[in-house]
Amino acid sequence: MRKALYPGSFDPVTSGHRDIIRRTSALFDQLIVGVLHNPQKPSGAFAVNDRVAMLMEISHGLDNVRVCAFSGLLVDIARENGIQTVIRGLRSGQDFESEMQMARLNRQMTGLETMFLAASPEYVHISSNMVREIGRFGGDLHGLVPGRILSHVSEVLRAE
Ligand code: PNS
Repeated sequence: MRKALYPGSFDPVTSGHRDIIRRTSALFDQLIVGVLHNPQKPSGAFAVNDRVAMLMEISHGLDNVRVCAFSGLLVDIARENGIQTVIRGLRSGQDFESEMQMARLNRQMTGLETMFLAASPEYVHISSNMVREIGRFGGDLHGLVPGRILSHVSEVLRAE
């Protein structure tokens, strides 16, 4: 079985993440979307179980997608779950340097491979950071996050 892991903070999941999930699910037998969190660090704007719930909601209808929360090293999570490939989306040159570093370190540690998907042009300017900033000031998040979670994300950020 060809199994891939799409890891991230997803705080919150954006329309760009949704696009990568949809496209990757068509390439693998199973896609595990992993909410990576560090229990030692502040939890972020959205609770980890809320991020998982939102990812499940927006993956509705993609039958080979599972969503899980993990902590620890990516290479260990991959090994423990029989995953050979990590998926990351690339938006810009800015992403490139840090993503290359992570991919090379993961490959050096255990041979874990990373595959990159070019972000679709309509989503290259979207990030969770910007979604949080816009949402906190009550801005319109339409199109920036998937429609199924739009009102929830707006409400949580506005209430912060
Ligand atoms: O959505 P993000 O914040 O860009 O995702 C980054 C993430 C979670 C994929 C990265 O920080 C990660 O892999 N964390 C797990 C810990 C780990 O393995 N660190 C070493 C990477 S070489």
